[in-house]
Amino acid sequence: MTSVGIDAMEIWTGKLVLDLPNTFAPVKGEDPEKYTKGLGLHTSSFPDVYEDIVTMGANAAKKLMDRKGLTPADIGRIDVATESAFDNSKPVSTYIAGCLEQVYDGDFRHANKGERKFACIAGTQSLDDAYNWIKAGRNRGRAALVIATDTALYERGDPGEATQGAGAVAMLIDEDPDLVELSTEQGYGSMDETDFLKPNQQFPSVDGKRSMQVYLARMREALEDYESVAGRTHPDLFEYIPFHTPFPGMVRKAALLGFRHMTRDTDIEDDLESEIGRQPREEDFETWDDYEEAIRGYMDELKTTEQYRDWYGRVIEPTLDISSRVGNWYTGSVHIARLSALKAAADEGKDMTGKQLLVGSYGSGAQAEIHAERVQETWLDEIEAVDVDDQLAARTEISFDDYELIHDVHNHEKEIEVEEFTQPEAEFVFTGWGRMNERRYEYVERSCVADC
Ligand code: CAA
Repeated sequence: MTSVGIDAMEIWTGKLVLDLPNTFAPVKGEDPEKYTKGLGLHTSSFPDVYEDIVTMGANAAKKLMDRKGLTPADIGRIDVATESAFDNSKPVSTYIAGCLEQVYDGDFRHANKGERKFACIAGTQSLDDAYNWIKAGRNRGRAALVIATDTALYERGDPGEATQGAGAVAMLIDEDPDLVELSTEQGYGSMDETDFLKPNQQFPSVDGKRSMQVYLARMREALEDYESVAGRTHPDLFEYIPFHTPFPGMVRKAALLGFRHMTRDTDIEDDLESEIGRQPREEDFETWDDYEEAIRGYMDELKTTEQYRDWYGRVIEPTLDISSRVGNWYTGSVHIARLSALKAAADEGKDMTGKQLLVGSYGSGAQAEIHAERVQETWLDEIEAVDVDDQLAARTEISFDDYELIHDVHNHEKEIEVEEFTQPEAEFVFTGWGRMNERRYEYVERSCVADC
């Protein structure tokens, strides 16, 4: 059977950075530890004036194509996942293809292009589409470009404002991949939910607390569904478990739930029995509420045990580093969690070849998906080639006033002129609107947004 998966990935972060505990929290009158300890966030990325979902996606894709020595003829499919689209008809992938055609010989005339929407899970769904297209033998030897790109902005004053971010992840999906092979087995948890949505509006309507409950409920269902096809999971089976990370504090909750589920009826539950008892069983309770309360009590104790803390430190914590520095990238979020984990493994000198990841994606509205990935022999070269630390370090820090300006610049309802904070260099930039209100882009070698 042909193995199919992620051959390579690149990221592009928004070029501005906001310090959450030191710049944002004081103006909001909040305790900085709400960010560092509660939400688990330190800084978030924002797009400069000339950046948007197209420039970030095209810049990430160009890095990927350059590094892998690809031309448009090598790509048979471009799928863009986003929940920040500005057009209800023309897909972002056409804009990105147009950008790339400015700098490469040839074009993407015979590539299938689309745009996937299901909140943050659309990035993983695009991976699926590419996987299925290749497995079905329709790719004619070509690879797929999957780009997850978002400006995750909330209405000012919305509690979600604390979790904003902006960036893109570009992934090359191919046969015999160099990074990870995707499992055929998948599990879904999917229900019609009203927790986070954008009914023809730019900024989301959010029921924050409910969205967290829905995330956990759908993730549990997806795990059960995955186990129904792949067999029981166990914490020792997976080197890392990257989750969709709207903010690291959310993953703390999902990880605890996952650990409890995976350890039920296992040696780990036996080992923990003398310390915290066995897990509550539904049949021992008269009502569902009583059972749930007992489960909550068990989980409160479970999270203090050495076994859990050790597992969390090894398997979950390494997935959160990039997120804690860039905020929520919506469709790209679970993919930077995978990158974060593999980067930590590379930094520690761990041999990951043949090791498994369990990947938990989530999109509001709502759906969770779980699949496994097997790390390939060439993973280290792939991960070491991604310049994530350099990109994050190169961001320009903004003050709270600057943040308000940049939020207004990217607010579709406002029209304001603001000088860019950084100078673009060898990248795609947004240059204004065309005669049909289309957005226009150019590749600039060196800082000529205003002058050219
Ligand atoms: N020291 C330490 N911890 C503190 C603290 C302090 N001084 N102050 C607060 N905290 C803790 C709180 O206890 C809380 O942790 P727990 O949930 O573990 O109790 C955490 O910090 C956050 O504090 P609040 O709950 O008071 O924060 P909030 O009311 O401002 O809202 C939020 C948090 C609901 C997540 C809000 O940011 C939000 O609406 N975000 C957008 C929605 C979202 O991201 N939902 C996640 C699931 S949906 C999804 O995943 C899709 C997606 O990408 C959007």
